[in-house]
Amino acid sequence: MQRLILALPGNEPFADRLAAACGGARGRIQTRRFPDGESYVRLLDEVAGRTVDLVCTLAHPDGQLAMLLFAADCARELGAAQVNLVAPYLAYMRQDARFHPGEAVSSRTFARVLSAHFDALVTVDPHLHRHPALDAVYTIPATALHAAPLLADWIAGNVARPLIVGPDEESGQWAGAVAARIGAPCVVLRKTRHGDREVDIAPADLGRYRGHTPVLVDDIASSGHTLLAAGRLLREQGLERPECVVVHALADADAHAALCRVFTRFTSTDSVPHPSNRIGLAPLVARALAGAGHGPATE
Ligand code: R5P
Repeated sequence: MQRLILALPGNEPFADRLAAACGGARGRIQTRRFPDGESYVRLLDEVAGRTVDLVCTLAHPDGQLAMLLFAADCARELGAAQVNLVAPYLAYMRQDARFHPGEAVSSRTFARVLSAHFDALVTVDPHLHRHPALDAVYTIPATALHAAPLLADWIAGNVARPLIVGPDEESGQWAGAVAARIGAPCVVLRKTRHGDREVDIAPADLGRYRGHTPVLVDDIASSGHTLLAAGRLLREQGLERPECVVVHALADADAHAALCRVFTRFTSTDSVPHPSNRIGLAPLVARALAGAGHGPATE
């Protein structure tokens, strides 16, 4: 029997692409909100004995979690052989330390909850910074896929003479991997964060890169202020109008509009549905599902 791929609301297009890429069957799941806001979930296909992949990118985790856990538990109770979570964007990974006394380390709590309800997790470029790997917090087999090769190939095919720029030290892993793959020069800037929307990027002398097209590369665009500050610095250096490529586009409409004013193009993978999506991840995720620990393609 083919693996069964179920999409939580908003994830249907990605689930379609994933099913096509891995030869899985697209299952049906009925969801709705009761008048008081509670979640209703009903699985409409036979799951007994099957590998079930629940597709739910976690860009809005607080509103998604209950429905996701109900679906996972329901599949298990109805006899699924394995219940996997496919979350191209994995939330809460940036809250990876108690930065101030009394703060919740939400990455750990979130990992405990998901680990209790799923047999395995597949995600793309989780924000691993102070946690060295997903298994530092997840107790189920958890696969972190890397989109850097896809970002690099998109840049190589779309941008002439790129200069890869990481806006802060945390972005260095993505910027470095992209630059290495396409043999482009790479610069990583230094950022100081003062608040959710207040960031400073330290001045840097980039004059020797005139003639290159700067391409900012980061894992996440959220408020967009990190990339906007870095983009402005590049313009002040007299460099060409920059491009920007990220893995996870969490930017809302206002942030997206601001990014489009600064960058020639603001480009993202389809880990989160967004008008900037130009790089598809379904084939990458499909290959991972076929690998060890995520159930066979057919049973
Ligand atoms: C954090 O270090 C991440 O790599 C991103 O730079 C950060 O999440 C971007 O956030 P914002 O768009 O709100 O500046």
